Amino acid sequence: MTARRQITDPVSIEDIGNIALICIDNPPVNATGQAVRTGLQQAIETLNAEARAKVIAIYAAGRTFVAGADIREFGKPPAPPALPDVFNVIEDSRIPVIAVMHGTALGGGLELGLACHARVGLAGLKVGLPEINLGLLPGAGGTQRVPRLAGIPMALDMALSGRQVGAEEALAKGLIDRLVNGDPRDVALAAAQDVLAGTLPTRRTCDLATPRDDKALDDTAAMLVKTQAHMFSPHKIVEAVRASYLPREQGLAIERQAFIDSMNTTQRSGMIHAFFGERAVSNIPEAKGPVRAVDIVGVIGGGTMGSGIATACLLAGLSVRLIEVKDDALARGVATITKNLDGAVSRGKLAGDARDATLARLHPSTDMGTLADADLVIEAVFEDMAVKKDIFGKLDAICKPGAILASNTSYLDINLIADCTSRPGDVLGLHFFSPAHVMRLLEIVRGAATLPDVLATGFALAKRLGKVGVLAQVCDGFIGNRILAHYSRCAAYLVLDGASPQQVDSALESFGFAMGPHKVGDLAGLDIGWMTRKRKAADRDPAERYAGDVADRICEQGWFGRKTGKGYYLYDGGATLPNPDADAIITQVRADHGITPRAFTDQDIVDRYMTAMISEAARVVADGTARRPLDVDMVFLFGYGFPRHRGGPLHYADTIGAQALVARITAYAKDDPQYWQVPPILARMAETGGTFADLNKDA
Ligand code: 3HC
Repeated sequence: MTARRQITDPVSIEDIGNIALICIDNPPVNATGQAVRTGLQQAIETLNAEARAKVIAIYAAGRTFVAGADIREFGKPPAPPALPDVFNVIEDSRIPVIAVMHGTALGGGLELGLACHARVGLAGLKVGLPEINLGLLPGAGGTQRVPRLAGIPMALDMALSGRQVGAEEALAKGLIDRLVNGDPRDVALAAAQDVLAGTLPTRRTCDLATPRDDKALDDTAAMLVKTQAHMFSPHKIVEAVRASYLPREQGLAIERQAFIDSMNTTQRSGMIHAFFGERAVSNIPEAKGPVRAVDIVGVIGGGTMGSGIATACLLAGLSVRLIEVKDDALARGVATITKNLDGAVSRGKLAGDARDATLARLHPSTDMGTLADADLVIEAVFEDMAVKKDIFGKLDAICKPGAILASNTSYLDINLIADCTSRPGDVLGLHFFSPAHVMRLLEIVRGAATLPDVLATGFALAKRLGKVGVLAQVCDGFIGNRILAHYSRCAAYLVLDGASPQQVDSALESFGFAMGPHKVGDLAGLDIGWMTRKRKAADRDPAERYAGDVADRICEQGWFGRKTGKGYYLYDGGATLPNPDADAIITQVRADHGITPRAFTDQDIVDRYMTAMISEAARVVADGTARRPLDVDMVFLFGYGFPRHRGGPLHYADTIGAQALVARITAYAKDDPQYWQVPPILARMAETGGTFADLNKDA
């Protein structure tokens, strides 16, 4: 005799004799929103009050067990009951409660399982504590119950890395008690019967003591002071895991306070903006609708970029036709791709035994005719419009009808390229970032004639490659490089006016960038910027203060950065040292321009650099190059090493406020009114009290 009782919308109880199955059905990912929390608590309390059921099994409907707390509730006033309290009710239940977990049991989802008295995993289950990726720490017992079950090193590893742990490892570490195949409800029923039969033992996790490991805690705390000093939640994680030595209530109280403190940081709001922004960029009409099938991809150009793009496509299971003009260049391209794939194997991104089969999907050729059967061709040759026009003319003649023709250009006009073909509707920009098989950003550039299904196919490709596709309109540099061109000038002005490249870099690294702009320039090759400056020399506004003197003179020495062993820095073996010769050039350039160097504080440097970035980013939003502020933010998080905990330049801008930004620009403009101009969109925001977040909502 079975009967289903609905407790709250997403939570129901199915009574089967003396077994009660609690089902959580809260699509898409069964997050523990308020109705789930209330339903779970009431269900357990009701069943205990009735004292009819002898065992309770919790499972979830749909594609996954609970994927965590409901992130959309974060930052809003708390809505009781609190998750840790609900889980204590479960743990304290007199009737044994077991969890049957499938899909991804993450954060609060895993914590729900840990509060139960036994856990059964279904094949393919992944568990994890990803809260750190949201600027948080496990806040519903994860830091207390994982160490009790799996030990302190495992708890620290999971909570600090946020990694997903496979079912076998979870079983081996004691996080789950059983691993079986089957449907969640059927397994829940069978496992409950096993509890009744005494073949599936149950116990309260918090009755266990955490095995002592002070060394792991101390070593990790010391390591974090060195590597993550600027982050809030990692240090709190160690503190909370250490508290798992204490009795449950005391440990949970320490975890709770650390969770609330983390919740109140701008790091949390930045990282949650990143979480939703990553999904929102492709949640637009242009990314939806019919797509064209893509199985065979042509890549023209076997340089670093082309090889990276080919690698990304191979790793995603596509067949690749790689084209180069000459045999030796083709061989170099194949060698680079092979090296990239070997790297993917060693990083665990590709199974060792899949490497040869992956490489077998690569078909190198010097004959463009082999592109006749390609569904999509990505041109990745050097930035020369004449060469690109020639290639697209040829592709037009060779490629089958319906094939998509894409250019990986970083700044050239897609419309001029499309016009060389008889099918401009099939042409778009797919701008990858180097190394293309690693960097997650893909700017999807819409030409004037690009057809909707071609654009949607671009987004589908991004998803297939595991990339974050962001829509951009045609302009010089699209979203990212256009903004980069603007704020790079600010870095150059700072050096001209008195800061050293090292000071600029270290100030911005303290802000959270992985590398300062001069280190990035040295890594990318200073010759790239040099070529761009030469290309744009004729178009330069005569009123513009030239920013390229220092970099030009460094390049004139043949110093292009890392690849020549010398740039802003000296590269001596593994070490990165200041380059006294570059410093001498800087001194000379200042003298030539009659500049008396002045001191900048690190804060001045960050403020000026970020204000420059925000100014151009605001213009990019205002003129529609980017659809919304969040699109700019994702470009910078996934393509430019912008610190994730700051959410992106325009999310960060809101933390400063439009009025303060306008005041800064106005003050800076006293020195250089041509460069420092208040973007009208920012001026309006300052007047009305508007924010970039408002524009995200409105779009
Ligand atoms: N809360 C609210 N919404 C969530 C969510 C969550 N925890 N997790 C996912 N979603 C939403 C997504 O925003 C998306 O919404 P959309 O369709 O409107 O864009 C939808 O669910 C589907 O998500 P994905 O597109 O990411 O689907 P995938 O199948 O690619 O991935 C997933 C599924 C692996 C579960 C992935 O969504 C994920 O990693 N989610 C976040 C998990 C997480 O961080 N959990 C910890 C939360 S914090 C916590 O639990 C605190 C606790 O300790 C107290």
